[in-house]
Amino acid sequence: MSQPHILLLGPPGAGKGTQSKRIADRFDVEHVTTGDALRANKDMDISDLDLEHDTPREYMEAGELVPDAVVNEIVKTALENADGYVLDGYPRNLDQAEYLDSITELDVVASLDVSTEELVDRLTGRRVCDDCGANYHVEFAPPEADGVCDDCGGELVQREDDTEETVRERLRVFEENTQPVIDFYEGEEAFVTIDGEQTPDEVWADLEAAIEKRV
Ligand code: AP5
Ligand code: MG
Ligand code: ZN
Repeated sequence: MSQPHILLLGPPGAGKGTQSKRIADRFDVEHVTTGDALRANKDMDISDLDLEHDTPREYMEAGELVPDAVVNEIVKTALENADGYVLDGYPRNLDQAEYLDSITELDVVASLDVSTEELVDRLTGRRVCDDCGANYHVEFAPPEADGVCDDCGGELVQREDDTEETVRERLRVFEENTQPVIDFYEGEEAFVTIDGEQTPDEVWADLEAAIEKRV
């Protein structure tokens, strides 16, 4: 059988990145994430698309969605080059969901469910390794030495969109644009909701079992 096609849905801070790393290792698939791809190309020139802004940076720093034309292209290229994948951070609106539907088929659609106040605490306390991208949390998942990555020794930094004001806007954008995407998949055989408010290990146990059942 070819490698599984897994979609991980959930609001900002639900643990998509944290759990995607484990999925990629366990099921030997590519981690495809539009957020990381855009952060690595924040100043990419998109002026030829004649949109409101000329680079992704302005959208991301305001907590708004980067236009579909940009992200659809990123995902199309990434999926063409992956055998199996875990897709994280896409689709984020119904047009993206329909586009995805036209280019691939999904074996598992897992939605991580977490309450809003918990999300704000997770995001404002998150720290990310500047070198390898590993995720930490000052309280919930602290590194062994303050400000230093356990995996590679890199410096831990705060993401520019993890201030409380931008976090609240990202959560609003999620409710408005991305919640309908979850409703779009609900009821499909591949769909499963996971309680994302448990510890990372407990979330992983539920997620791994749900994926094993479907692939
Ligand atoms: P993106 O990078 O995708 O951000 P996001 O969806 O807001 O999600 P996050 O990465 O913030 O959260 P996560 O679910 O990965 O949580 P994590 O595992 O880190 O997108 C950023 C921006 O890019 C968007 O705002 C937009 O501008 C643009 N963009 C991206 N995709 C786009 C698209 N498709 N269309 C248009 N624009 C797009 O965990 C969070 C924290 O909690 C960490 O500190 C972690 O250690 C901790 N934690 C994790 N799990 C647990 C747990 N179980 N218990 C306690 N703490 C936990
Ligand atoms: Mg993430
Ligand atoms: Zn690191």
